[in-house]
Amino acid sequence: MTEQERLDTFNAHVASGGKVEPGDWMPDAYRKAVLKFVEMHANSELMGVLPEREWLMRAPSLKRKLALTAKVQDEVGHAQLLYRVAEDLGKSREAMLDDLLAGKTKFHNVFHYPTKTWADVGVIAWLVDAAAIVAQQALRESSYAPYARTMKKICWEESVHIIHGRDVLLSLLNGTATQRAMVQEALDRWWGPLMQMHGPPTDPTKDRDLAWRIKNKSNDELRQEFLAIYVPRIRELGLTLPDSALRYDETAGRWRFTEPDWKELYAVVTGHGPMSQERLAFRQINYDQTQWVRDAILAVPRAA
Ligand SMILES: [Fe+2]
Ligand SMILES: [Fe+2]
Repeated sequence: MTEQERLDTFNAHVASGGKVEPGDWMPDAYRKAVLKFVEMHANSELMGVLPEREWLMRAPSLKRKLALTAKVQDEVGHAQLLYRVAEDLGKSREAMLDDLLAGKTKFHNVFHYPTKTWADVGVIAWLVDAAAIVAQQALRESSYAPYARTMKKICWEESVHIIHGRDVLLSLLNGTATQRAMVQEALDRWWGPLMQMHGPPTDPTKDRDLAWRIKNKSNDELRQEFLAIYVPRIRELGLTLPDSALRYDETAGRWRFTEPDWKELYAVVTGHGPMSQERLAFRQINYDQTQWVRDAILAVPRAA
């Protein structure tokens, strides 16, 4: 088989829903594209625990503290699983953490923002995880088989996070007027980043991740799906969405909204968000403090 025939066979295989295992032949560009995608996902799971972690010691009850601790542990576990998938594609975990800390690789925009009140914990677990799960459910069909398998486990846990988040908000909404205002204020702050989260619309014909079925839905499709499911659920709780242009256009069959601030998204994910540097600095301290563990574990194979 010539190189071109090999490539054509591979492209036809993934385009028709075929899977790729780590030991299979794959074009280098495909391997790099999966690695970039999974690495960014792993970074987001790892950095995503920091905003919530800040509330572990301030949770309003033991039950809430246990639930939040369990969620934070789940997210670190997701990072662990995803870094493992990424490592198989040829980049060491140490190199991935170094690049994350050096700002060379990215993590999701929503984790660059501060958590100001306990209502933020509910909004993150309910709506940030909801926006994420819309994308992650589609990734269960990814052409890269280890990623697809990992997403099945992760999605199951994410669905529990969403229930936990909604429960936190329901308690507040059934409380005092101040507590209800706290939820509305948190939603107002998070709505912009949530609408940016799936990224700007891209041309599906030019999106190689889509052509290779590394992901199966475009940014725009994911945002539409998120709005279709969650706008009615948010309104059902008596909350108001801070976008007067938000409405479902029956004729076009899609949600209309004020164009998200893509400049803000770009600035935030390139390390200029309100908490970007602080969160990375915290991760660096943590990384330095655990160096002895890596030294101890890696000492055996090195000596051998
Ligand atoms: Fe997660
Ligand atoms: Fe989650």
